[in-house]
Amino acid sequence: MKTEEFTFSISVYDSIDELSQEDAFILSEARSVTQFAYAPYSNFLVGAAAKLINGETVTGTNQENAAYPAGICAERVLLSCAASRYPGTGIETMAIAYNNLKGKSDRPVSPCGICRQSFTEFQQRTNTPIRIILSGMEGEVQVIENAAYLLPLVFGSDDLK
Ligand code: THU
Repeated sequence: MKTEEFTFSISVYDSIDELSQEDAFILSEARSVTQFAYAPYSNFLVGAAAKLINGETVTGTNQENAAYPAGICAERVLLSCAASRYPGTGIETMAIAYNNLKGKSDRPVSPCGICRQSFTEFQQRTNTPIRIILSGMEGEVQVIENAAYLLPLVFGSDDLK
């Protein structure tokens, strides 16, 4: 028997003011696009913004549906948008913000499991690790250097060979 450990670090900032200019820009874009979310069922507006390795910026917002499972998270809207507009292009940094219309939006929340799975495949197909920035509309900001840290023991395309 052997034991394997999985560890990773998160950089925690008190606010957007402590970020580099580039990271602050992408986070403010994510916060800004929460206004385009369609979330009449949860009232939880999520915005994602990413800087691609070609320098372009793409965004996404959650889009819900009366048939609840048909709704899609902001992160996966962004990934689809990036892959469709700039095929094969990696994402350098993605910021994810939310505006909870029923409560506070002052601490980071983490992406759901399906989005983590989607990040991993996107990273693999573009050969580029995605840096993740998490925050609400104000307050603490977390930075994770590689989205793969969020999903250890991931199922991937190699497992299908
Ligand atoms: N949601 C996202 O868009 N991203 C996340 O990281 C977490 C959850 C959406 C899905 C749903 O529309 C609403 O937030 C509440 O779960």
